[in-house]
Amino acid sequence: MATVLHLDTSARRTDNKVQDYNSISKSLAAHFTDNWLTLNDEDKVIYRDLGLNPPEFISQDWIAAVFTPDEKRSEAQKALLTLSDTLIDEVAQADIIVISSPMYNYGMPAVLKAWFDQVVRINKTFTFDLARGDFPLAPTMAGKKLILISSSGEFGFEAGGIREKMNHLGPHVETLSKYLGVETFYEIKSEYQEFADERHQKSLNDAYQAIDDLVKRLA
Ligand SMILES: Cc1cc2nc3c(=O)[nH]c(=O)nc-3n(C[C@H](O)[C@H](O)[C@H](O)COP(=O)(O)O)c2cc1C
Repeated sequence: MATVLHLDTSARRTDNKVQDYNSISKSLAAHFTDNWLTLNDEDKVIYRDLGLNPPEFISQDWIAAVFTPDEKRSEAQKALLTLSDTLIDEVAQADIIVISSPMYNYGMPAVLKAWFDQVVRINKTFTFDLARGDFPLAPTMAGKKLILISSSGEFGFEAGGIREKMNHLGPHVETLSKYLGVETFYEIKSEYQEFADERHQKSLNDAYQAIDDLVKRLA
């Protein structure tokens, strides 16, 4: 039995009266999880909608609490780390992490960055040791898969594409995913939302197909 951690991050919902207002990335990720559960009905899904329930930003006190050894933490410091502890526990349970994300200002939404800031934490998800030389950070977890399902208004963010250098979404998530113990990273994109033409429809259809194929491959 595997555990899937499904995180949605768009500010948009999927139950709007006008369908065009619905989040594309959330709809695609729901398709992934629904299909996954059809093929793996014993599996557990942990779900969070970070877009509708954003994690708190970290603060100076939060950083101080993180760098205080466990046994020396005050009750207030422990309380400040409760959300981080819970979110990290969800990552620890997960074999597969599905993150749906809109592209906002060429990168991830602030709510997703806030989640990573809560989760990528010294002595919890990574250790730091200068004996490792120029790369002192090492993840504590291993063997996870992460599937990033994204939607953008523009297009051409892939390697060799016309906006490759403007893409700070997939590459950023992939870099950070290492510190969650992710060893295999997949990205499925829907593009052209702002053009609302046949290219968008094709890109969306291709993303649904890519999800079907990936679910079959991983199931
Ligand atoms: C605040 C905001 C910023 C955006 N920035 C970009 C951007 O930098 N590049 C892009 O291609 N699309 C951008 N878009 C378009 C969204 O990526 C597109 O609408 C996407 O479908 C949103 O995801 P969702 O449908 O899951 O909500 C932006 C949209 C919003 C609302």
